[in-house]
This record gives sequence, C-alpha cells and structure tokens, in this order.
Amino acid sequence: MGGSTILFSFFLLCFPKLSISTNTLTKSQSLQTNQTLLSPNAIFELGFFSYTNSTWYLAIWYKTIHDTEKTVVWVANRDTPLQNSIGFLKIDDKGNLLIVNQSHKPVWSSNHSTPITNPVLELLDSGNLVLREENENDPTRFLWQSFDYPTDTLLPGMKLGWNFDTGMEKHITSWRVTNQDPSSGDFSFKLDCRGLPEIFLWNKDQIIYRSGPWNGDRFSGVPEMQPVTDSIKFTFYADQHQVYYTFSIGNNSLFSRLSVNSVGQLQRLTWIQSTQVWNKFWYAPKDQCDNYRECGAYGVCDTNASPVCQCITGFRPRNQPAWNLRDGSEGCVRKTGLSCGSDRFLHMQRVKLPDTTSVFVNRSMGLVECGDLCQRNCSCTAYANIEIRNGGSGCVMWVGELLDVRGYPSGGQDLYVRLAASDVGIEGDSGKTSDTIRDIGIVVGVAGFILLALGIFILWKKRKLQPILKGKTEKRGFSERSQDFLINEGVLSSDREQSGESNMDDLELPLFDFNTITMATNNFSEENKLGQGGFGSVYKGSLKEGQHIAVKRLSKTSGQGIEEFKNEVKLIVKLQHRNLVRLLGCSIQMDEKMLVYEYMENRSLDAILFDKAKKSSLDWQMRFNIICGIARGLLYLHQDSRFRIIHRDLKASNILLDKEMNPKISDFGMARIFGTDQIEANTMRIVGTYGYMSPEYAMDGIFSVKSDVFSFGVLVLEIVSGKKNRGFYLANKELNLLGHAWKLWIEGNAWELSDSSIDTLNSASEVQRCIQVGLLCVQERAEDRPTMSSVVLMLSSDTASMSQPKNPGFCLGTNPMETESSSSKQEESCTVNQVTVTMLDAR
Ligand SMILES: *[C@@H]1O[C@H](CO)[C@@H](O)[C@H](O)[C@H]1NC(C)=O
Ligand SMILES: *[C@@H]1O[C@H](CO)[C@@H](O)[C@H](O)[C@H]1NC(C)=O
Ligand SMILES: *[C@@H]1O[C@H](CO)[C@@H](O)[C@H](O)[C@H]1NC(C)=O
Ligand SMILES: *[C@@H]1O[C@H](CO)[C@@H](O)[C@H](O)[C@H]1NC(C)=O
Ligand SMILES: *[C@@H]1O[C@H](CO)[C@@H](O)[C@H](O)[C@H]1NC(C)=O
Ligand SMILES: *[C@@H]1O[C@H](CO)[C@@H](O)[C@H](O)[C@H]1NC(C)=O
Ligand SMILES: *[C@@H]1O[C@H](CO)[C@@H](O)[C@H](O)[C@H]1NC(C)=O
Repeated sequence: MGGSTILFSFFLLCFPKLSISTNTLTKSQSLQTNQTLLSPNAIFELGFFSYTNSTWYLAIWYKTIHDTEKTVVWVANRDTPLQNSIGFLKIDDKGNLLIVNQSHKPVWSSNHSTPITNPVLELLDSGNLVLREENENDPTRFLWQSFDYPTDTLLPGMKLGWNFDTGMEKHITSWRVTNQDPSSGDFSFKLDCRGLPEIFLWNKDQIIYRSGPWNGDRFSGVPEMQPVTDSIKFTFYADQHQVYYTFSIGNNSLFSRLSVNSVGQLQRLTWIQSTQVWNKFWYAPKDQCDNYRECGAYGVCDTNASPVCQCITGFRPRNQPAWNLRDGSEGCVRKTGLSCGSDRFLHMQRVKLPDTTSVFVNRSMGLVECGDLCQRNCSCTAYANIEIRNGGSGCVMWVGELLDVRGYPSGGQDLYVRLAASDVGIEGDSGKTSDTIRDIGIVVGVAGFILLALGIFILWKKRKLQPILKGKTEKRGFSERSQDFLINEGVLSSDREQSGESNMDDLELPLFDFNTITMATNNFSEENKLGQGGFGSVYKGSLKEGQHIAVKRLSKTSGQGIEEFKNEVKLIVKLQHRNLVRLLGCSIQMDEKMLVYEYMENRSLDAILFDKAKKSSLDWQMRFNIICGIARGLLYLHQDSRFRIIHRDLKASNILLDKEMNPKISDFGMARIFGTDQIEANTMRIVGTYGYMSPEYAMDGIFSVKSDVFSFGVLVLEIVSGKKNRGFYLANKELNLLGHAWKLWIEGNAWELSDSSIDTLNSASEVQRCIQVGLLCVQERAEDRPTMSSVVLMLSSDTASMSQPKNPGFCLGTNPMETESSSSKQEESCTVNQVTVTMLDAR
C-alpha cells in the first residue's frame, strides 16, 4: 500500500488533473476531460486522453503502472473521438452512458437503454467499468460493463468468445497504430464456435493464425502454454450456453494481459516489478509454421525439417515444381485413392490438430469408438481425441481436407489419418482400428529407426566428405539441392531458400571488411587479446568512428562452409534483446571466419565473481539483477525469438557485463554456427563445459532447453555463493557445489550458501528464493526442471508458489569423460574450459 500511495501523489504532482475522490459517478455528475475516476485500490483509472490534442478518447489505464506511456487497456470511443478537449461523460435519463462534445451532442453512447432509477457508474479494481443500480452489487445484474466490449486487450477475468443466450460475441481488435492511434485496426483475435471451437487471428478478412482447439490443458497449437506456478491460470469453457477463453491471476499484485498489436502479433505481456517493464511472456505467430495453411491441405509444417513443408505419409505434393521452390501452399494429394472399407489409419504424434471449424464432435465418445465410427463412415478423413488428460477422451472427426497441421518436437496431440492400405504398407485385416494403430506404430517405429540410422550415416559421411559434397552441391541446380544434403543440418530454410541463385541477400548481412578488422584490432595483437575461448580467440578493437568492438576469431574446426556460416550469422544478427550481447556482423577472409560483437566494458562475470579481491564489489542487488537479466535473455532465446536457440554453453565466463553491470549473454547460437543445432535430439558432438552440463547431456548427448535450464541453475548457485561448481568438483566429489547447496537446503540452512563477502541480511528472502530456483533448475530429471518462463516468474514475484526441489543431478562425479576433461590444458584459465568430445564411436 505504501508504495502505491507514494506513486499516487507523484501522479497528482505530474498531471494537472483533478481526480474525483470517489470511484463512482452518479446521474447528477459528469466527468470532464480534466478529471478521472479511480478504482477503489487505485489500480485502474478512467479518464480522457489524447496523443494529438485533436482526438480525445475516454479510456481505462493502469494507475499504478507508468511505463514510458500510460498502458491503456480499454477505449470507449475508439472510432468516434472528441475533436477537442472540451466534452464530458455522463449518464442520461434512460441509463445510457454518453460522451458528449462541446455542442452537447453525443459522440458515443453505450446504447443500453434500460430503465434505471439510481444509476451508478463504478470502476472496479479488475479494470471493469460497470453501470449498476445504486445498491446492486451482484455482477450478474450489472446493466452494462466494459468487459463486454473489449478493445485490444484481454484482462484477467475478461472473456473472449460467445454467449449463445444473449447472442453477444467478444473479441479483441488491434489499434490502428499501437500506442499512437486507438481507432480500430486490421487485426483481430476471434473465437470461432463452429465445430470444435478455436481462436483465429484475422488480418481484415484473412485468417493468419489459429490457436488450435483446446485439449483440456491448453490450445493444441500452443504446446508451450502451461499454467505458471499457480500465478496465471488459463480457462476454456464450453457448454450449450456459452463458450469462452479467459485467464485469471492468483495474486492481484501481478499484472498480465493479452493483446493484439497493430502489426498483427498476439502478445501476453507481464509486468515485472523489479525492472518496471512489460515483459513479452509469449507471442504468436512465432515462426513460419504458425502461418495459417502454410503447407496447404494434407501438408505438415515442421520448422525442424528442410523444407519446412512435408506431406503427410501417403500423400505427395500437388504441385511438385512449386513445392521444390519451397511454396507449399497448394498442399498435397493422396498417392492412392481411398477404398473405404479396407482403409487404414496412420498414427501421427505431436501435431497441432487440423482446422476444426467443420468437424463432427462427440465429447462422450472414447478413441476406440471414435476410430470405429470413422472407419465405417467413408467421408471421415481423420479422427482424434479432444482432451488429452487421463489418457484422452472425446471424439473429433474430420470430413474433407486436413488443413494447417504442424509438428512439434514435444507437446502437440495424436492424430489418426485415413490412408489407403497400400500407402500404410500393411495388407488386409481391416476393421480393427486398435490393432491397426499398433501395427502402424511398429512400422512407423522401425521406419523411424532406419531413417535415424540413415540420417546419422549421411551426417557422418557428409562430415568426412564435406569438401567434395560442397563442390557438388554448388554445381547442381537449385531444385536438385536435395534434402539428403541438408538433412540434419538443423538450419531453418526460410532464409536460406533464396540463396540458390543470387547474392542479393548478402546485402542484409553486415559483412565487415577484413582489413578494417585487422586495423581495428591492431593486427590481432597480443595486447588487444581479451581471451581465448573454446570457439576461438577474442580481440578488442576500435573502429575508425570510435566504436569499440570485440572480434571473435573462430577456430577453424567449424563444421560449416562459408554459405552456411553467412546464413547462420544472418539469423543470429536478428536476435536482439537487452540481455544478449549484440552480434554486429561477421568478416570472412579465405576460410577464416570472424564474428564482430559490441564491446562490453566490464568484461565477463567470472572475472569478478570468482576473484577474491573484486567479488565484494558485486553486492546482492547487482547479483540479483544479473540473475534476472540472464533469465530473461535465456527465455528470449528459448521461447520468444523466431528460432528456438539452445545455448548449450551457458557459464559465468559467457555472461558479459556492460557499463551499468547489466548482464548480457554471449556466445549464443554458436552451436548453429558450428552446424550442430537441433531441438531435443542426440548430438554427435558434445559442446559444453563440465560443471554446467546436465546429466542427460553429458552422459547421453541429449540436449533440450532443459539442459540450458540446468546450466542456468548452476550459474545461479554460483552467483549466490561466489563459488565455482567446477572448482568443487575437481577437488572432491563431496564438495560439489550442487551437493553442498542441496545438503544445506535439506538441513534448512540454505541461506548459509550465500557469499560471505557480501551483506545479504536485508535480502534474506530474495536469496532464499534464488537458491530454491537454482536447485529447481539443477534437478536430476529434465522433466522436473522448470521452463525459463516459470523461472522468470518465480524470480519476479515473491508470492509465486514454488515446488520443493528434488535432488540435483550429480553428473560430474560419474562422468565417463572425466579423464579427457581433466587432461585439458586450459583447466587453469578461468575463461576457457570448453571441451569437445566426439560421441560417434559410442553410438
Ligand atoms: C476542468 O474543465 C472545466 C471545463 O471544461 C473547467 O470549468 C474546470 O475549471 C476545469 N477544472 C480544473 C481543475 O482545471
Ligand atoms: C497538446 O496541448 C498541450 C497543452 O496545450 C501542449 O503542451 C502539447 O504540446 C500539445 N501536444 C500536441 C501533440 O500538439
Ligand atoms: C459535436 O457533435 C456533433 C454531432 O456528431 C457535430 O455535428 C458537431 O460538429 C460536434 N461539435 C464539436 C464542437 O465537435
Ligand atoms: C450505438 O448505436 C448507434 C446507432 O445505431 C451506432 O452508430 C453506434 O455505433 C452504437 N454505439 C456503440 C458503442 O455500439
Ligand atoms: C500478493 O503479492 C504481494 C506482494 O507481492 C503480497 O504482499 C500478498 O500477500 C500476495 N497476496 C496473495 C493473496 O498471495
Ligand atoms: C455420443 O456418443 C455417445 C457414446 O457413444 C452416444 O451415446 C451419444 O448418442 C453420442 N451423441 C451424439 C450426439 O452423437
Ligand atoms: C459421415 O459423417 C458425416 C459427418 O458427421 C455425416 O454428415 C455423414 O452423414 C456420415 N455418413 C454416413 C454414411 O454415416
């Protein structure tokens, strides 16, 4: 409360506006453009505002949040503004809310003419503006409420969808220009209640994205959607009276909103108290495969495949030449026509279910019954469960084309697609769906294994024969650059696809002249050398214009050719976040490759954190800011950037600090540069640093975002304690930092872990929270570890409930590669300890 009172008086000082002291407006009163109405706890404010002085709007904004501008969440007269600052809001005799202009003509009306005796207009703490009878507090008897007329923002408790009893539909529509012009824009997010309901994002009258149907836990097309540690809860409700999507917040000191902006992006924004910014928690469309019907009918979009459009098994491209040129929009057609009775079903896993606007739905039917029904009805092309919980329930059946299917590395749902028996590759035995599914499962499994083996073989071959193959592919025509050579490179094809013919797209690649770099770094002199990392040496340089840069001279072991390298740099240059070191561009001389970064004044975290003399200069507040910053940077890499990036080598020496000691993650995307990036897959080469590697990565080469979460956890514990995990490990297994932290935690003495060289007395709860987050992140089982979005939330709110950590992964003591690690020459240097191990023989 104290905080908001101070903020409140600050507002009064800054704006010459007179707030009406109460939070209600009655029939005899009016609200002038220089007055505002406050919600009881001063969370929201209603008033007039203008960006231009020539258009005035009645709006609701957060009173307690003052970003660079007011965060407006609702606008009454978005398309009928007042032309000048003279006007007011009033309640007329019929119970209408009216905004009238200088000549006392209404420019906007709530159009709700119900007889009303003592009307009261009130702004609630939820942000809902309600019109009610004076003594009526039952929400169901409100006469009018702003929550029924959303603008571009969905607040907690607001519903997006249909009420069939009243015929009322609620959706959100973007501003014409976000933060500039609130009039209705082109983009809207609307629930379609036909078939199995789902929500579509429209650009005028074109669908550009769909959420997929609700599967009981989340939308089929948003596998990353999860309730956040009890803080944000998502709800989808459907019965014969209404169908809607809504969300709620466990603690009303946390602010979160869903809105659609004027460039057609749907965003969930969450207010971070500690940094006072709206953080982009989630957004869509995220990638090429989110584009509606990207791969046409019967196509499957998969960002990890190259090209991203594939046909469902048993289908082939409808227009092969266009398909070769990476235009999948015409989709696919069956290889073999259906024959009804003897058709079989292909079991597809982890997909976004096809468009469900015209499907048959029965919520009480199970999967087997659903399959039988589909088998018997010759026009049924596919079926699936509706809900995924408790082994799945409900039946949805498609007739006709399957549109807008995409695959996910994890999450997604199971879909059963009708195929001619010959396309499935099994003869006879029709009817028994469940057997069919099992059989197909086996076939698909075996085929998958063969493909995997083939993939590994090709990759291995490719590695050995790289120069030869490279020469070959370059001579071949573009359309012949067959998938085989691109297989498993894990390179997004979207940016590469133009590279076939021209070099025009080099223009967008910031390419530095080699001579400029040589001069800037004083011919790569020893004095300019900042350090030596696993990927190469780093030099400080200054350009003629005075700008300082850091140049990373990549070691020549990089698996990539020049073209691939350029493509990767182009992708990574686009990743921009205040907690990532900015990659400015690259330079190429013969087969030598260099990356040019912005220069960080305070160098790397490890040089301060692990230095006895310097560590005390990092007080707790700085450390906490560093932890939060790294978390946000990592979240961006994992989730928000267009391409999911797994860092794979997160460690203290890869955290650089700028002038203000803000943390910036460096060396991200190196796995891509070195041509080995895949999502949740086995890798041939283990890139990473002992001490920070998750057990599953170090032992089996399996990496995923959760391996980064593990490294992050180690880093958090290091920052809290000021001690190196790796140092512990080399000395004595029992003294492993993780083990030490865990021991203190179960004894209830976690706080003792904090660095004795700094004062943490006043921040005990924050320290405790960080230790808990750290321990949650280093849990042995990857499934148990939180995602970075949960981590960011846990760090930013001291009320988010956190689970109790289970035991951490002690991969280090049992690592089979231990000997290679300790024989590394670079063990002494604190910035260099990257070890590369080839796992090829082990497979
Ligand atoms: C607010 O505006 C009205 C007329 O628009 C004016 O009469 C009144 O004095 C103003 N109040 C303040 C506090 O400026
Ligand atoms: C709007 O009017 C105010 C007060 O007259 C003035 O300070 C401000 O610059 C004007 N803004 C614009 C965009 O014209
Ligand atoms: C007030 O609104 C009326 C009706 O919309 C319009 O004709 C009139 O020009 C407006 N007057 C001012 C001063 O904006
Ligand atoms: C109220 O009704 C008028 C006339 O039918 C219409 O032009 C206006 O858009 C309506 N206002 C709202 C807020 O729906
Ligand atoms: C919500 O959070 C605030 C501070 O973050 C805390 O003081 C309050 O007790 C919390 N309320 C609930 C219901 O958890
Ligand atoms: C849905 O399935 C159940 C169970 O098979 C059946 O009893 C019911 O009649 C079906 N409802 C409709 C509308 O088909
Ligand atoms: C097959 O299913 C569709 C969609 O539910 C239905 O319209 C059609 O009548 C069914 N055909 C048969 C033969 O049952």
